[in-house]
Amino acid sequence: MEIFGWSLCTIIFIVSISWLLIKPRKNNSPPTPFALPILGHLHLLQPPPHRALQALSQKHGAVVHLRFGSRAIVVVSSPSAAEQCFTTNDIIFANRPKSLAGKHLGYNHSTLGFSPYGNHWRNLRRIAAAHVFSAASVNRSAAARAEEIRFQAKKLAAAGHGGGEFRKVNLNALFLDLVYSAMMRIVAGKRWSEPADMFGPPTVMSLCDYFPVLRWVGFQGTEKKLVKMKKQRDYFLQGLIDESRKTIEMNKKKKKKKTIIEALLLLQEAEPETYTDEVVKGVIMVMFTAGTHSTSLTMEWAMAALLNRPDILEKAKNEIQMQVGCSRLVEDSDLSRLLYLHCIINETLRLFPAGPLLVPHFSSQHCTISGYEVPKDTTLIVNAWAIHRDSKVWENATEFEPERWFKESEAATGFKFVPFGMGRRACPGSGLAIRLMSLVLGTLIQCFEWRRVGRALVNMEEGSSGLSLQRLQPLEAMYRPRQSMATLLSQL
Ligand code: HEM
Ligand SMILES: *[C@@H]1O[C@H](CO)[C@@H](O)[C@H](O)[C@H]1NC(C)=O
Ligand SMILES: *[C@@H]1O[C@H](CO)[C@@H](O)[C@H](O)[C@H]1NC(C)=O
Ligand SMILES: *[C@@H]1O[C@H](CO)[C@@H](O)[C@H](O)[C@H]1NC(C)=O
Ligand SMILES: *[C@@H]1O[C@H](CO)[C@@H](O)[C@H](O)[C@H]1NC(C)=O
Repeated sequence: MEIFGWSLCTIIFIVSISWLLIKPRKNNSPPTPFALPILGHLHLLQPPPHRALQALSQKHGAVVHLRFGSRAIVVVSSPSAAEQCFTTNDIIFANRPKSLAGKHLGYNHSTLGFSPYGNHWRNLRRIAAAHVFSAASVNRSAAARAEEIRFQAKKLAAAGHGGGEFRKVNLNALFLDLVYSAMMRIVAGKRWSEPADMFGPPTVMSLCDYFPVLRWVGFQGTEKKLVKMKKQRDYFLQGLIDESRKTIEMNKKKKKKKTIIEALLLLQEAEPETYTDEVVKGVIMVMFTAGTHSTSLTMEWAMAALLNRPDILEKAKNEIQMQVGCSRLVEDSDLSRLLYLHCIINETLRLFPAGPLLVPHFSSQHCTISGYEVPKDTTLIVNAWAIHRDSKVWENATEFEPERWFKESEAATGFKFVPFGMGRRACPGSGLAIRLMSLVLGTLIQCFEWRRVGRALVNMEEGSSGLSLQRLQPLEAMYRPRQSMATLLSQL
């Protein structure tokens, strides 16, 4: 949204002349704030958007109708309204709005995240579930995750070697590197060695989507940038596939464990029409686009929260010491016993949902939410961030209290906790993400002591980026290996 600047002022000036053309809203459509002609309500969207939309919902209600340029938007900010969107109206909202990003980065709206609801999407989702997201596949990729985590722990320990002094580490960079490499190991059996952040930051909607006219004037090169990004990504993904084609025969003989690409290519041999290169690319791509930033941001927020609450960090350490000990690293099979760690992760996802507004949905039919009429072709935005911080829904809503997850076991039920969305379009990667995050955080807490860089508390403000909940400042922290773990760390 930083793309406003002077052009916003110009637009406001020009269009203000046509004030009187505003149409009155229909009777039972949701409440709507006062709109400017042409711009609609975009001027109300001061970054970060989830805060601006929260303010609007506090003023106008849990269901608000807005217009961003040429698009009709409905913003939902209560559990009960969200529930209606993802139960009764789930199929109607199971679409995504068309966007420039979807056209270019989403292979003409044909990838899992961008595709409209229908056979093609169901097919992709089924393939991805079978080879990436199912419990069995997540189990199968455990070794890939463990290897990467061991690699990072070893690197941290080596950097800190000699003396027991604390050293500084940039956790933002560490987590991003770790997540890219973990995905790459799962997909192709090797570490990430491409440009650091090829698939970020996540893009869904840009100003050009709200004002199609801007496309024609090549507004700030938005479309050009997307085309260039797509080319780079496509080249990389095709490269991975071609490489695997060459090694697949060799690995078959060696009886090496199949990577995800190899599994998909073998299916391609049998059913070339279903498992086209585009489909294979689409499945792999979502792991890098949807799976990297979300996961690394969440871990960064978790560590930030823990650095500000050494008491919670200590409890987590004690739990790990009791359940796992010091003679080996945390493993997947320990995770079900590390309840407090899971509470910390849930609490992080509550206060800092990586997708504060989920991903936009799009209605294929007219429907009603909380009694309000919502027409066909409306973009649905669910303000998960606002729901998670609503004091009518949560006690001590803005406090970081992992213990609450012990007390209210029903906390997770209903629609007051939706960091991964709900319904048909919910995040298929939640299981994988939780496993990865638990293992990483568990290992970091087990192996190292952590401290803030200065005395002051870590700043918990978020940046202004639209789709993902970035920290205002990348997180840095001080760490040193735990004495009790020294032997193990030296053997990694
Ligand atoms: C903490 C980590 C993560 C968070 C908070 C998160 C959150 C979300 C959210 C909010 C959505 C949109 C739901 C909706 O439309 O209502 C989503 C969709 C999606 N996520 Fe995740 N996600 C995470 C990790 C992952 C991972 C690791 C992967 C894959 C490896 C992944 C793959 C996807 C895909 C493919 C979709 C699109 C699904 C569809 O449109 O059918 N996510 N995620
Ligand atoms: C993109 O997909 C639509 C249908 O969803 C189709 O009509 C259009 O021709 C496609 N465009 C390109 C460039 O493939
Ligand atoms: C995954 O592994 C766990 C043990 O780590 C096991 O209990 C579970 O049954 C496995 N799930 C599947 C679907 O293989
Ligand atoms: C964390 O939240 C999930 C729902 O997303 C719930 O199933 C789980 O029980 C929660 N974990 C704990 C430890 O409360
Ligand atoms: C809210 O905070 C109060 C005081 O700190 C505490 O006693 C209470 O248990 C908290 N409630 C929850 C649900 O954590």
